[in-house]
Amino acid sequence: MPVLEGRDLVKRYDERAALDHVSFVVEAGESVAIAGPNGAGKTTLLSMLAGVTTPDSGSVELPGGKLGWVPQKAAVYQKLTVRENLELFARLEKVDDVFGSATRMMDRIELAHRASDRAEDLSGGMRQRLSIGMGLIADPAVLLLDEPSAALDPLQRERLWELLGSLADSGIGIVFSTHSAGEVEGHADRVIILDGGKLLYDGAPADIGPGAHFELAFINFLRARRAHVNVGGDAE
Ligand SMILES: Nc1ncnc2c1ncn2[C@@H]1O[C@H](COP(=O)(O)OP(=O)(O)OP(=O)(O)O)[C@@H](O)[C@H]1O
Ligand SMILES: [Mg+2]
Repeated sequence: MPVLEGRDLVKRYDERAALDHVSFVVEAGESVAIAGPNGAGKTTLLSMLAGVTTPDSGSVELPGGKLGWVPQKAAVYQKLTVRENLELFARLEKVDDVFGSATRMMDRIELAHRASDRAEDLSGGMRQRLSIGMGLIADPAVLLLDEPSAALDPLQRERLWELLGSLADSGIGIVFSTHSAGEVEGHADRVIILDGGKLLYDGAPADIGPGAHFELAFINFLRARRAHVNVGGDAE
């Protein structure tokens, strides 16, 4: 069952196409990685799917229910406590039981012991977990995360993937951007590769082509495509 459908999405900044007719579908319980070099259009695509950036053309549909969005910079109110941040979002999302859902979410993101601490006093990883909790508070069918592991230490990263894995197991569609080949290999059912705003690949990480592991296969793939296609953008 699809939970997210992006169709023919286009975004231009001046003459440059940040996103060039990109379409794809995310199924319930599926974990999809978005990979590609700096400037490929990953953040543009995710923020457009999240409804934060307006496409020049194309459409986004959410046939499974709501969408949760976790931007790269944790979107939390620094002066509010962990509980206050969650309750604020629960109210904005018109959640029925504001207090109870904030309490349950703090357990889920393992921040119950820091409930009364201001967001500004949390570690980067804890703030990231709070930001994920805010993305999840309205019980979304699909969760989008922009480079969620970029600022985390290896232990925090492992906890992040445990959390995202359990969310996918519970049927939520997960879409995340990453520069880590290991995360694509280890945590994505499918990978979408963007370069110069174009979707170059949509399939299983293992099927991308020759290379002993994903990192090498990914580099080989991009080199081969860049030799044949003028991808524009930051392409060398
Ligand atoms: N607000 C903006 N104004 C002008 N150009 C923009 C704007 N936002 C993005 N772009 C351009 O769109 C292209 C895609 O940028 P985007 O941030 O989506 O890339 P990315 O794949 O997320 O890169 P990174 O890996 O560095 O995060 C880039 O060429 C970028 O300069
Ligand atoms: Mg980005």
